[in-house]
Order: sequence, then C-alpha cells, then structure tokens
Amino acid sequence: MVGISGATGIAYGVRVLELARTAGVETHLVVTPAGQRTRAYETDLSARDLAALADVSHRPADIGAAIASGSFPADGMIVAPCSVHTLSAIAYAGGDNLLTRAADVTLKERRRLVLMVRETPLTLTHLRAMTAVTEAGGIVMPPVPAFYLRPGTVEDIVDHTAGRALDLLGIDVPELPRWDGTRRRRDDEEPRETSAQSA
Ligand SMILES: Cc1cc2nc3c(=O)[nH]c(=O)nc-3n(C[C@H](O)[C@H](O)[C@H](O)COP(=O)(O)O)c2cc1C
Repeated sequence: MVGISGATGIAYGVRVLELARTAGVETHLVVTPAGQRTRAYETDLSARDLAALADVSHRPADIGAAIASGSFPADGMIVAPCSVHTLSAIAYAGGDNLLTRAADVTLKERRRLVLMVRETPLTLTHLRAMTAVTEAGGIVMPPVPAFYLRPGTVEDIVDHTAGRALDLLGIDVPELPRWDGTRRRRDDEEPRETSAQSA
C-alpha cells in the first residue's frame, strides 16, 4: 500500500510506485486531497496519471475499501511523503480517512509501516508523534538525501530514498546504485601502516 499526503515531495511517492511496478509488486494507492494539491503544484501529472501508476487507486473517503481491513493481505505500507498532519493522525490512531485507517491497520497487524515524514524544522509535538509511531512499530524515515553516491540530479536523490524505503519492505530494486565500500578515491585513502610504524 502506498499513501501520498500533502507534504512537499510527491516525487518520492511517484517513484515508490514506479519502482514497485518495476519489481513486479502489486500496489494500492491512496492520495489525500492535500496530496492532490501538491501533485498539481509539483508535477505535470493529472490525478488520472497518478492513479494509473498503481494497480488499484482508492478514494481517501472510502474507509470501507478492502485495504481498510486487516484481512487484506498487504505486505506493508509506505507513506511518501508523509505530512505532520498525517503523521499525527497515525500516531494517535485517528483513522478518519483511508490513508490513516490503512496505516493504523498496518500497525495493528504488526506489518511494516514506513513514514517518509517531511517537515523542517521540527517541533516537540512532531518529535513526540514520531516517537509514538516508532513505539507502535512504525518506521519514521525522513527523506534526507545521502551524498556518498554523488547524486548528479534530483532524480538520483529521489531514486535512492525511494529505493531505501522499498528495501525496508523487503522489495529489492536491482538497478538502484548501492554503496559497495569501494568508491573511495585512492588518494583519499588512509596511508597503510608500514612495518616500522606497526612495530
Ligand atoms: C505546497 C505545500 C507544501 C506543503 N508542505 C508540507 C510539508 O512539507 N510538510 C507538512 O507536514 N505539511 C506540508 N503542507 C501542509 C499540508 O498539506 C497540510 O497540513 C494538509 O492539511 C495535510 O493534509 P494530509 O495530511 O491529509 O495530506 C504543505 C502544503 C502545501 C500547499
């Protein structure tokens, strides 16, 4: 299951859907009304284009959809991006739309829930909500870029974070670049100990 809420960074949710499809994983999507606003601001996708990236797209008001029940055999859920509004609703079991209901079900069924929470700076309230979700078994994964793979484009940064979120659900995306520990330039390496130094 993939949820898209109204934080900036809808590109993360789009890429999670695309990579899941590449990996042959069936996806069920819920986009909040605020998520539809960021889609319009941040992408050229129509609501229909976005829905077409998932196998099944659900209306956020449809709290009776299959994914609202623990009997639906989902592997887990990624909310990308996750607003602090949605984070708070999930932290305190406020499942009044299908996204937050499906997330709460994911927690109660002890399945993987990954929240790409995007806000900065953070208040104590935000941090407490993150703690509550973590205590309930969820994973808070802010989309913070890594630079050790030397990303050349925004797409590189988004790909890396979306891929790491899928990793957390055990979904392998083979084409994603990974740190293999061998990328250091030779002239940056620590000098080897000589026999005289080590004596
Ligand atoms: C352009 C834009 C960017 C926003 N960025 C963020 C953000 O990064 N983080 C956040 O928590 N809320 C952000 N918001 C505010 C949320 O959209 C707002 O709190 C909304 O009620 C969230 O609803 P939802 O959680 O149901 O999607 C943004 C709103 C707009 C219009």
